[in-house]
Amino acid sequence: MFMDLPSGRILVTGALGQIGTELVEALRQKHGPEAVIATDLRKAEGCQILDVMNTDEIKKVMVEQHITEIYHLAALLSATGEKNPHLCWDINVTGLENMIAAAKEHGARLFSPSSIAVFGPDCPKVAPQITPLNPTTIYGKTKVVGEQLAVSSGIDMRGIRYPGLISYKAPAGGGTTDYAVEIFHNALENGHYDCFVREDTKLPMMYMDDAIRATIELMDIPFERLSDSRGGYNIAGCSFTAGELVRSIQRHLPDFTCTFNPDIRQQYADSWPEEIDDGIAMNEWRWSPRFNLDRIVDEMITNLESRKNRS
Ligand code: NAD
Ligand code: SER
Repeated sequence: MFMDLPSGRILVTGALGQIGTELVEALRQKHGPEAVIATDLRKAEGCQILDVMNTDEIKKVMVEQHITEIYHLAALLSATGEKNPHLCWDINVTGLENMIAAAKEHGARLFSPSSIAVFGPDCPKVAPQITPLNPTTIYGKTKVVGEQLAVSSGIDMRGIRYPGLISYKAPAGGGTTDYAVEIFHNALENGHYDCFVREDTKLPMMYMDDAIRATIELMDIPFERLSDSRGGYNIAGCSFTAGELVRSIQRHLPDFTCTFNPDIRQQYADSWPEEIDDGIAMNEWRWSPRFNLDRIVDEMITNLESRKNRS
Protein backbone atom coordinates (compact mmCIF):
# COMPACT_ATOMS: atom_id res chain seq x y z
CA MET A 1 0.00 0.00 0.00
CA PHE A 2 1.49 3.37 -1.02
CA MET A 3 -0.22 6.11 0.94
CA ASP A 4 1.24 9.14 -0.82
CA LEU A 5 4.12 7.86 -2.92
CA PRO A 6 2.70 7.70 -6.44
CA SER A 7 5.22 5.24 -7.86
CA GLY A 8 8.12 3.17 -6.61
CA ARG A 9 9.45 2.30 -3.20
CA ILE A 10 11.88 3.83 -0.72
CA LEU A 11 15.20 2.13 0.11
CA VAL A 12 16.85 2.78 3.48
CA THR A 13 20.46 1.58 3.97
CA GLY A 14 21.94 1.26 7.46
CA ALA A 15 18.34 0.97 8.66
CA LEU A 16 19.12 -0.71 11.99
CA GLY A 17 21.24 2.19 13.27
CA GLN A 18 20.36 5.05 15.60
CA ILE A 19 18.70 7.14 12.87
CA GLY A 20 17.44 4.30 10.66
CA THR A 21 15.45 2.72 13.48
CA GLU A 22 13.31 5.86 13.76
CA LEU A 23 13.41 7.04 10.14
CA VAL A 24 12.05 3.73 8.84
CA GLU A 25 9.21 3.94 11.38
CA ALA A 26 8.38 7.51 10.29
CA LEU A 27 8.58 6.73 6.55
CA ARG A 28 6.37 3.65 6.96
CA GLN A 29 3.85 5.77 8.81
CA LYS A 30 3.88 8.37 6.03
CA HIS A 31 3.95 6.14 2.95
CA GLY A 32 2.66 2.77 4.19
CA PRO A 33 4.63 -0.23 5.47
CA GLU A 34 5.06 -1.87 2.03
CA ALA A 35 6.60 1.25 0.51
CA VAL A 36 9.77 1.17 2.61
CA ILE A 37 12.53 -1.42 2.12
CA ALA A 38 14.75 -1.40 5.21
CA THR A 39 18.24 -2.85 4.70
CA ASP A 40 21.44 -3.19 6.74
CA LEU A 41 24.58 -5.27 6.99
CA ARG A 42 22.96 -6.94 9.99
CA LYS A 43 19.78 -9.00 9.90
CA ALA A 44 16.62 -8.26 11.88
CA GLU A 45 12.88 -8.64 11.50
CA GLY A 46 11.49 -6.27 8.87
CA CYS A 47 14.98 -5.55 7.53
CA GLN A 48 16.86 -7.34 4.76
CA ILE A 49 20.61 -7.68 4.35
CA LEU A 50 22.28 -5.27 1.93
CA ASP A 51 25.98 -4.39 2.02
CA VAL A 52 26.44 -0.99 0.39
CA MET A 53 29.80 -2.20 -0.94
CA ASN A 54 28.06 -4.87 -3.04
CA THR A 55 27.05 -3.20 -6.31
CA ASP A 56 25.34 -6.33 -7.72
CA GLU A 57 23.06 -6.60 -4.68
CA ILE A 58 22.31 -2.86 -4.79
CA LYS A 59 21.32 -3.14 -8.44
CA LYS A 60 19.14 -6.17 -7.70
CA VAL A 61 17.19 -4.42 -4.97
CA MET A 62 16.82 -1.23 -7.05
CA VAL A 63 15.26 -3.20 -9.93
CA GLU A 64 13.22 -5.78 -8.02
CA GLN A 65 11.75 -3.26 -5.56
CA HIS A 66 11.27 -0.38 -8.05
CA ILE A 67 13.22 2.02 -5.86
CA THR A 68 12.65 5.73 -6.58
CA GLU A 69 13.97 7.25 -3.35
CA ILE A 70 16.99 6.30 -1.18
CA TYR A 71 17.89 7.26 2.38
CA HIS A 72 21.52 6.21 2.61
CA LEU A 73 22.39 5.89 6.31
CA ALA A 74 25.06 3.16 6.20
CA ALA A 75 28.32 4.66 7.47
CA LEU A 76 31.01 4.50 10.15
CA LEU A 77 30.78 7.33 12.69
CA SER A 78 33.63 9.45 14.03
CA ALA A 79 35.06 7.36 16.89
CA THR A 80 34.81 4.04 15.02
CA GLY A 81 36.02 5.73 11.85
CA GLU A 82 39.21 7.07 13.44
CA LYS A 83 40.03 3.54 14.65
CA ASN A 84 39.52 2.12 11.11
CA PRO A 85 40.33 4.98 8.71
CA HIS A 86 40.56 2.83 5.55
CA LEU A 87 37.28 1.08 6.28
CA CYS A 88 35.72 4.45 7.11
CA TRP A 89 36.78 5.85 3.73
CA ASP A 90 35.56 2.71 1.91
CA ILE A 91 32.12 2.61 3.52
CA ASN A 92 31.51 6.36 3.71
CA VAL A 93 32.89 7.35 0.30
CA THR A 94 32.90 4.24 -1.93
CA GLY A 95 29.60 3.07 -0.40
CA LEU A 96 28.11 6.49 -1.15
CA GLU A 97 29.47 6.46 -4.70
CA ASN A 98 27.77 3.07 -5.17
CA MET A 99 24.45 4.52 -4.04
CA ILE A 100 24.87 7.60 -6.27
CA ALA A 101 25.55 5.36 -9.28
CA ALA A 102 22.46 3.28 -8.47
CA ALA A 103 20.31 6.40 -8.01
CA LYS A 104 21.56 7.81 -11.30
CA GLU A 105 20.94 4.60 -13.23
CA HIS A 106 17.42 4.17 -11.88
CA GLY A 107 16.35 7.83 -11.70
CA ALA A 108 16.00 7.81 -7.91
CA ARG A 109 16.32 10.70 -5.46
CA LEU A 110 18.94 10.34 -2.73
CA PHE A 111 19.24 11.57 0.86
CA SER A 112 22.71 11.20 2.39
CA PRO A 113 23.51 12.67 5.82
CA SER A 114 26.40 14.96 6.49
CA SER A 115 27.57 15.99 9.96
CA ILE A 116 28.91 18.83 12.11
CA ALA A 117 32.17 16.86 11.71
CA VAL A 118 32.71 18.63 8.33
CA PHE A 119 33.95 21.63 10.33
CA GLY A 120 37.50 21.88 11.63
CA PRO A 121 39.34 23.92 14.26
CA ASP A 122 39.47 26.98 11.96
CA CYS A 123 35.66 27.25 11.96
CA PRO A 124 34.07 30.01 14.10
CA LYS A 125 32.41 28.81 17.35
CA VAL A 126 29.05 29.43 15.69
CA ALA A 127 29.45 27.53 12.42
CA PRO A 128 28.20 29.38 9.31
CA GLN A 129 26.66 27.38 6.44
CA ILE A 130 29.29 28.60 4.03
CA THR A 131 32.81 28.52 5.47
CA PRO A 132 36.08 26.67 4.69
CA LEU A 133 35.70 22.98 5.61
CA ASN A 134 38.95 21.65 7.08
CA PRO A 135 38.06 18.71 9.33
CA THR A 136 40.82 16.91 11.23
CA THR A 137 39.03 13.54 11.39
CA ILE A 138 38.87 11.03 8.53
CA TYR A 139 35.13 10.80 9.25
CA GLY A 140 34.77 14.57 8.71
CA LYS A 141 36.74 14.35 5.47
CA THR A 142 34.40 11.63 4.14
CA LYS A 143 31.45 13.89 4.93
CA VAL A 144 32.98 16.84 3.06
CA VAL A 145 33.44 14.59 0.00
CA GLY A 146 29.83 13.42 0.38
CA GLU A 147 28.58 17.03 0.31
CA GLN A 148 30.66 17.80 -2.79
CA LEU A 149 29.38 14.67 -4.56
CA ALA A 150 25.80 15.72 -3.79
CA VAL A 151 26.22 18.86 -5.84
CA SER A 152 28.38 17.39 -8.64
CA SER A 153 26.43 14.13 -9.04
CA GLY A 154 23.82 15.56 -11.40
CA ILE A 155 20.98 13.90 -9.45
CA ASP A 156 18.47 15.12 -6.88
CA MET A 157 20.65 14.49 -3.83
CA ARG A 158 20.23 16.21 -0.46
CA GLY A 159 21.79 16.10 2.99
CA ILE A 160 21.78 17.61 6.45
CA ARG A 161 24.74 18.31 8.72
CA TYR A 162 23.17 16.54 11.67
CA PRO A 163 24.33 17.67 15.11
CA GLY A 164 24.90 14.97 17.77
CA LEU A 165 21.63 13.07 17.92
CA ILE A 166 19.95 12.08 21.18
CA SER A 167 17.43 9.24 21.19
CA TYR A 168 16.25 6.28 23.24
CA LYS A 169 14.99 3.69 20.70
CA ALA A 170 18.40 2.49 19.42
CA PRO A 171 21.90 2.88 20.86
CA ALA A 172 24.26 5.52 19.47
CA GLY A 173 26.57 3.99 16.85
CA GLY A 174 30.20 4.82 17.69
CA GLY A 175 30.35 8.61 17.51
CA THR A 176 31.95 11.32 19.63
CA THR A 177 28.55 12.64 20.74
CA ASP A 178 27.53 9.21 22.13
CA TYR A 179 28.11 10.48 25.70
CA ALA A 180 24.92 12.53 25.40
CA VAL A 181 22.99 9.26 24.89
CA GLU A 182 24.94 6.88 27.16
CA ILE A 183 24.59 9.29 30.09
CA PHE A 184 20.82 8.66 30.32
CA HIS A 185 21.17 4.86 30.40
CA ASN A 186 23.89 5.09 33.07
CA ALA A 187 21.99 7.68 35.12
CA LEU A 188 18.92 5.44 35.28
CA GLU A 189 20.72 2.11 35.71
CA ASN A 190 23.70 3.04 37.94
CA GLY A 191 23.10 6.59 39.19
CA HIS A 192 26.56 7.43 37.85
CA TYR A 193 28.30 8.13 34.53
CA ASP A 194 31.99 8.45 33.69
CA CYS A 195 31.93 10.91 30.80
CA PHE A 196 34.64 10.77 28.10
CA VAL A 197 34.65 14.53 27.41
CA ARG A 198 35.35 17.48 29.74
CA GLU A 199 32.54 19.10 31.71
CA ASP A 200 32.90 22.35 29.69
CA THR A 201 32.68 20.61 26.28
CA LYS A 202 29.92 22.34 24.35
CA LEU A 203 28.55 20.80 21.14
CA PRO A 204 25.51 21.19 18.89
CA MET A 205 22.93 18.48 19.73
CA MET A 206 19.43 17.55 18.61
CA TYR A 207 16.59 15.29 19.73
CA MET A 208 15.86 12.53 17.22
CA ASP A 209 12.26 13.69 16.65
CA ASP A 210 13.58 17.01 15.32
CA ALA A 211 16.16 15.21 13.11
CA ILE A 212 13.58 12.87 11.59
CA ARG A 213 11.14 15.73 10.96
CA ALA A 214 13.95 17.79 9.36
CA THR A 215 14.84 14.89 7.05
CA ILE A 216 11.28 14.37 5.87
CA GLU A 217 10.63 18.12 5.52
CA LEU A 218 13.78 18.57 3.43
CA MET A 219 12.85 15.70 1.11
CA ASP A 220 9.35 17.19 0.65
CA ILE A 221 10.67 20.53 -0.71
CA PRO A 222 10.68 21.02 -4.51
CA PHE A 223 14.24 20.69 -5.82
CA GLU A 224 14.15 24.16 -7.48
CA ARG A 225 13.81 25.83 -4.06
CA LEU A 226 17.14 24.45 -2.83
CA SER A 227 20.60 25.99 -3.31
CA ASP A 228 23.97 24.22 -3.44
CA SER A 229 23.78 24.02 0.37
CA ARG A 230 21.59 20.95 -0.27
CA GLY A 231 24.76 18.84 -0.01
CA GLY A 232 24.61 19.39 3.74
CA TYR A 233 22.36 21.97 5.38
CA ASN A 234 23.33 23.35 8.78
CA ILE A 235 20.48 22.73 11.19
CA ALA A 236 20.58 23.73 14.86
CA GLY A 237 18.78 22.01 17.69
CA CYS A 238 20.35 23.26 20.90
CA SER A 239 23.91 23.53 22.23
CA PHE A 240 24.95 22.68 25.78
CA THR A 241 28.00 21.59 27.77
CA ALA A 242 28.33 18.12 29.28
CA GLY A 243 28.03 19.80 32.69
CA GLU A 244 24.75 21.50 31.73
CA LEU A 245 23.43 18.12 30.57
CA VAL A 246 24.28 16.60 33.97
CA ARG A 247 22.49 19.42 35.81
CA SER A 248 19.40 19.05 33.64
CA ILE A 249 19.30 15.29 34.37
CA GLN A 250 19.66 16.05 38.10
CA ARG A 251 16.28 17.87 37.94
CA HIS A 252 14.82 14.33 37.63
CA LEU A 253 17.50 12.33 39.48
CA PRO A 254 19.00 14.58 42.21
CA ASP A 255 21.44 11.86 43.38
CA PHE A 256 22.93 11.31 39.90
CA THR A 257 26.70 11.88 39.80
CA CYS A 258 29.07 12.27 36.86
CA THR A 259 32.86 12.19 36.58
CA PHE A 260 34.79 13.49 33.59
CA ASN A 261 37.72 11.53 32.14
CA PRO A 262 38.45 12.76 28.61
CA ASP A 263 39.80 10.23 26.11
CA ILE A 264 40.79 10.56 22.43
CA ARG A 265 37.21 11.61 21.56
CA GLN A 266 37.86 14.92 23.37
CA GLN A 267 40.16 15.89 20.48
CA TYR A 268 37.41 15.28 17.94
CA ALA A 269 34.90 17.23 20.03
CA ASP A 270 37.38 20.13 20.41
CA SER A 271 37.75 20.33 16.62
CA TRP A 272 33.99 20.89 16.10
CA PRO A 273 32.00 24.12 16.53
CA GLU A 274 29.90 24.85 19.62
CA GLU A 275 26.87 26.16 17.78
CA ILE A 276 25.31 26.09 14.33
CA ASP A 277 23.97 28.97 12.25
CA ASP A 278 21.01 27.47 10.39
CA GLY A 279 19.67 30.64 8.76
CA ILE A 280 19.92 29.19 5.23
CA ALA A 281 17.86 26.07 6.09
CA MET A 282 15.32 28.34 7.81
CA ASN A 283 15.03 30.52 4.69
CA GLU A 284 15.06 27.77 2.04
CA TRP A 285 12.84 25.15 3.64
CA ARG A 286 11.51 26.77 6.83
CA TRP A 287 13.52 24.58 9.20
CA SER A 288 12.78 25.22 12.89
CA PRO A 289 13.68 23.05 15.92
CA ARG A 290 11.23 22.15 18.72
CA PHE A 291 13.36 20.58 21.47
CA ASN A 292 15.61 22.51 23.88
CA LEU A 293 17.89 20.86 26.48
CA ASP A 294 15.35 20.46 29.29
CA ARG A 295 12.69 19.13 26.91
CA ILE A 296 15.14 16.57 25.49
CA VAL A 297 16.03 15.44 29.01
CA ASP A 298 12.34 15.22 30.05
CA GLU A 299 11.55 13.08 26.97
CA MET A 300 14.59 10.80 27.40
CA ILE A 301 13.96 10.11 31.09
CA THR A 302 10.22 9.58 30.64
CA ASN A 303 10.60 7.27 27.65
CA LEU A 304 13.46 5.21 29.10
CA GLU A 305 11.62 4.82 32.42
CA SER A 306 8.37 3.73 30.78
CA ARG A 307 10.26 1.28 28.55
CA LYS A 308 11.92 -0.18 31.67
CA ASN A 309 8.55 -0.50 33.43
CA ARG A 310 7.09 -2.33 30.42
CA SER A 311 9.94 -4.90 30.25
P1 NAD B 1 24.73 3.98 13.21
O1 NAD B 1 26.16 3.61 13.39
O2 NAD B 1 23.84 3.93 14.39
O3 NAD B 1 24.08 3.10 12.06
C1 NAD B 1 24.77 2.82 10.86
C2 NAD B 1 24.24 1.50 10.33
O4 NAD B 1 24.95 1.21 9.13
C3 NAD B 1 24.46 0.32 11.28
O5 NAD B 1 23.23 -0.31 11.56
C4 NAD B 1 25.43 -0.60 10.53
O6 NAD B 1 25.15 -1.97 10.72
C5 NAD B 1 25.16 -0.18 9.08
N1 NAD B 1 26.29 -0.46 8.19
C6 NAD B 1 27.61 -0.33 8.42
N2 NAD B 1 28.31 -0.72 7.35
C7 NAD B 1 27.41 -1.09 6.40
C8 NAD B 1 27.52 -1.59 5.07
N3 NAD B 1 28.71 -1.82 4.49
N4 NAD B 1 26.38 -1.85 4.40
C9 NAD B 1 25.18 -1.66 4.96
N5 NAD B 1 25.01 -1.21 6.23
C10 NAD B 1 26.12 -0.93 6.93
O7 NAD B 1 24.71 5.45 12.54
P2 NAD B 1 23.56 6.55 12.64
O8 NAD B 1 23.80 7.33 13.87
O9 NAD B 1 22.24 5.97 12.39
O10 NAD B 1 24.02 7.49 11.42
C11 NAD B 1 23.46 7.38 10.12
C12 NAD B 1 24.08 8.46 9.26
O11 NAD B 1 23.90 9.74 9.88
C13 NAD B 1 25.58 8.33 9.04
O12 NAD B 1 25.90 8.79 7.76
C14 NAD B 1 26.17 9.26 10.07
O13 NAD B 1 27.43 9.72 9.68
C15 NAD B 1 25.14 10.37 10.06
N6 NAD B 1 25.16 11.18 11.28
C16 NAD B 1 24.77 10.65 12.48
C17 NAD B 1 24.81 11.44 13.61
C18 NAD B 1 24.41 10.92 14.96
O14 NAD B 1 24.60 11.63 15.98
N7 NAD B 1 23.83 9.74 15.06
C19 NAD B 1 25.23 12.77 13.52
C20 NAD B 1 25.65 13.25 12.30
C21 NAD B 1 25.59 12.46 11.16
N1 SER C 1 27.34 12.27 16.17
C1 SER C 1 28.32 12.02 15.16
C2 SER C 1 29.61 11.56 15.75
O1 SER C 1 29.87 11.90 16.88
C3 SER C 1 28.58 13.28 14.39
O2 SER C 1 28.52 12.99 13.07
O3 SER C 1 30.34 10.88 15.08
